Amino acid sequence: MNRPHDAVQAQIADLRDALERHNHAYYVLDAPSIPDAEYDRLFAELQALEAAHPQFDVPDSPTRRVGGAPVQAFGQVRHAAPMLSLQNAFDDAEVLAFDRRVREAAAAAGLPADTLRYCAELKFDGLAISLRYEDGRFVQGATRGDGAVGEDVTANLRTVRSIPLKLAPGAPRLLEVRGEVLMFRADFDRLNADQAARGDKPFVNPRNAAAGGLRQLDPTLTAKRRLRFFAYGLGEVSDELTLSASHAGVLDWLAGLGFPVGPLRAVCADAHALLAFYRDIASRRAALPYDIDGVVYKVDQRRWHEAIGFVARAPRFAIAHKFPAEEAVTELLDIDIQVGRTGVLTPVARLRPVFVGGVTVTNATLHNQDELERKDLLIGDMVVVRRAGDVIPEVVRAVPERRPADARRFVMPTHCPVCGSTAVREAGEAAWRCVGGLYCKAQRGQAILHFAQRRAMDIEGLGGRIVEQLVERDLIRTPADLYGLSVSTLAGLERMGDKSAANLVAAIAASRQVSLERFLFALGIRHVGEEVARVLAQSFGSLESLMAADWEGILVAKAAAQKANARARPRAEALVDVPLEGVGPEIVAALRAFLGESHNRDVMAQLLAAGVEPSPPQHTRASVAFTGVWSPGHPSEPAAQGALAGHTIVVTGTLAGMSRPEAEDLIRQHGGTASGSVSRRTHFVLAGADAGSKLAKASALGIPVIDLETMKRMIQNHDDTQS
Ligand code: IVH
Repeated sequence: MNRPHDAVQAQIADLRDALERHNHAYYVLDAPSIPDAEYDRLFAELQALEAAHPQFDVPDSPTRRVGGAPVQAFGQVRHAAPMLSLQNAFDDAEVLAFDRRVREAAAAAGLPADTLRYCAELKFDGLAISLRYEDGRFVQGATRGDGAVGEDVTANLRTVRSIPLKLAPGAPRLLEVRGEVLMFRADFDRLNADQAARGDKPFVNPRNAAAGGLRQLDPTLTAKRRLRFFAYGLGEVSDELTLSASHAGVLDWLAGLGFPVGPLRAVCADAHALLAFYRDIASRRAALPYDIDGVVYKVDQRRWHEAIGFVARAPRFAIAHKFPAEEAVTELLDIDIQVGRTGVLTPVARLRPVFVGGVTVTNATLHNQDELERKDLLIGDMVVVRRAGDVIPEVVRAVPERRPADARRFVMPTHCPVCGSTAVREAGEAAWRCVGGLYCKAQRGQAILHFAQRRAMDIEGLGGRIVEQLVERDLIRTPADLYGLSVSTLAGLERMGDKSAANLVAAIAASRQVSLERFLFALGIRHVGEEVARVLAQSFGSLESLMAADWEGILVAKAAAQKANARARPRAEALVDVPLEGVGPEIVAALRAFLGESHNRDVMAQLLAAGVEPSPPQHTRASVAFTGVWSPGHPSEPAAQGALAGHTIVVTGTLAGMSRPEAEDLIRQHGGTASGSVSRRTHFVLAGADAGSKLAKASALGIPVIDLETMKRMIQNHDDTQS
C-alpha cells in the first residue's frame, strides 16, 4: 500500500501519543488504560512503521524505551545548578533542633517565621538524577556524580517508562527536574529470581540493582531492569517567576506535567506535625511497593530558601529524617536450641548485640536445619541481621569474606536439650521434635502459657516467670493442676506477694466459665488455631459430641459433599453444606491423634472435674451440628448477611482503639470471615500501625489494604442502606 508520506507521519505521531498516554497511565498514575497485549500490538505497529520510514525517526519515540545502541563510556555533564545533599536527623531532638535553626535563620533574614510551613515527603532509597527538558522535550539526563559534574545517562533514562519524554503543553522553555531512580520491590524479586535461575549472584537490595541498571553501557540492559522514577525538586528553570511559590505547589505542578511524584506528602506547620508525619510513614513503610530510608522536610516557601541559606554543600532549609537502618553486620556467637510448645526444636542465633531497626538485637530465630544449610551459616561467622518494622529479627546471610578460620558447623542434637527425650523428624517435615510432650518442661511451660493466654482461657497475671517456676518446682504437670493451686503455694514463688497470689487464684477460678471454642483452642491441639476451634465448636456444640465424633463418617461425608458441589457449581445449582468446612484431613488426623491419646483424655477429664465448664456456642449451625453419620443433601444456608458478607479479611498490626480479637469479632458480626494468613483468597487486609509481613504479602499479591476507619465506614454505609 502506498500511502502519502504525511498520512504515515500522522499515523506515527498518533501511535507515539497513544503509547505515551498508556505509559503515563500505567507507570505514573498506576491505572493501566489498556491490556498489555493491546499495548504490545500498538508498539509493534509503531516499530514497523518507523523501520519502514526512518526519515521520521526522533529520539523521544516510545520505541526508544527498549534501549538504543551501546556506548563506550558515559560523557560528563556539568549540572547547571549543583545537586546538593541533605543533612540527616536520626531522632526527634535533631528534628526539633533543625526547626529551631530554620526559624532563627528566617527571623534573622526578616521573614515572618510564624508563617513558616514545611513540605514533608518520602525519602526514596535510590539514586539522585537530573533530567533536562528543552521546549518540552527530554534532552539530557545525568547522575548526581560529585554534585557539580555527573555522568550522561540519557539513553538509559529514556528506557525508564515513568520518565516523560515529552511534557504536557505549558512547560517552561528550559526545565531541569530532580528526582530519584529506583526499583520496585516486585521487580527486584523478579530480577533476583532470574539471576538465581541463571546461577548468577543475587543483588543485595533494590538500590544496588537500580544503581547497576542505570550504569549499563548498553541501554537494552537498563530497559530490562524496569527502573522507576519519582520527581522531588527542580534544577535550572527558565521562567522561575511563573512557578508556584510553594514547594508543595511545585510538586503538584510537576505531577500535572506528567512526572510521577511521591504519593505521600503533607504540608506541616510545626515540628510536631513533622514528627507525626514521620511516625505515620514509618507505619506504612512495609506496605509501600518500593524502599524508602526516611522522610524529607523542606521549607515550603521556596522564596525563603536563599535567605535561610546553606551549610557546606547541604541546604539549611531541608533535612532528611532517617529511619533506623534495617540491616547490620554482627558476629554469630553461638546457636542454641529452643523447644516450642509442640516440641519443635528451633535453632536460635545468639548474636553479639547489635543496634538494628531501632532496637538492640541479641537473638534471632534460624527457623530450622534446612534454613541453616541453605544460608550456609557457621558459628563464628559475621552475619547480616535484618529487623524491618515490627517483624522479628532474622539472619539474612553470612558475609563469606569475613569467615574466621575456626568457624564451625552447627550439629542438630539427637535429643531434646531440655528433657533428654529423643528428637525425631517426621517425613516431609523440616522440623525436629522432642517426643517428650508434657513430660518435657519446656513444652509443659509453653503449653500452660498457651492455655492461659488472653485469647484462650484468659487467666490474667499468669506470665512466663510464674509458669517457669511452677513447672521447675513440679507444682503443675498439666493445665488442670492450675485449678488446684492455693494462695499460699503461689505466694511462695519469687516476686509474688499475698495480694497478687490471691488475685491469680481468683483469675484462675474465673476462667472456669469459658466458651467451647476458647477451650478447644486452649488445649493446644496441633493445627487447631482459633478459627478451626470456632468451626469445631459450632459444628459439634459440645465437648462430649466432639469426643464421640465418628471421624471416618465425617471424612466420607466431606468428600461426598465436595463432590456434589463440584458437580452443582458449573450448573449453578444449590450447594450443600460441607461438614467441617475448612477442616481438612491433616487437621482431622491431628484431632484424632490428640483425642486418641489417653493422657490427653485424662487432662480433659481433670479439667472438667476441676469445674471448667466449656459453654456451647449460642448459635450452633444446626444443619452442621452432628455427632454420627452426616447425611449429605442439606440445602446450603442462605449467604451470610452483613456489610462484610462474603469477605475474607486478615487483621494485622496495631489498630487504634481496638484489639485484634475485637476487630475479628467485628468482622464476624458483620458477616465476614476473619482469617489469620494472607493468601490469594483474602479480600482485604485490615492493617494498623507497625504491620509487618502480612502487609508486605498483601502488597505483593495486590490485595487491597484498608484501615479501621475504612472498615467502619463500609459497615456504616451498609447499615445506612439497609435501614
Ligand atoms: S531533596 C537540596 N527530596 O536523598 C535537596 N532528596 O542526601 C536535594 N532523596 O541525593 C535533595 N528522596 O538522592 C530530596 N524527597 C526527596 C528525596 C531525596 C530521596 C535523596 C537524593 C539526595 C539524597 C540527599
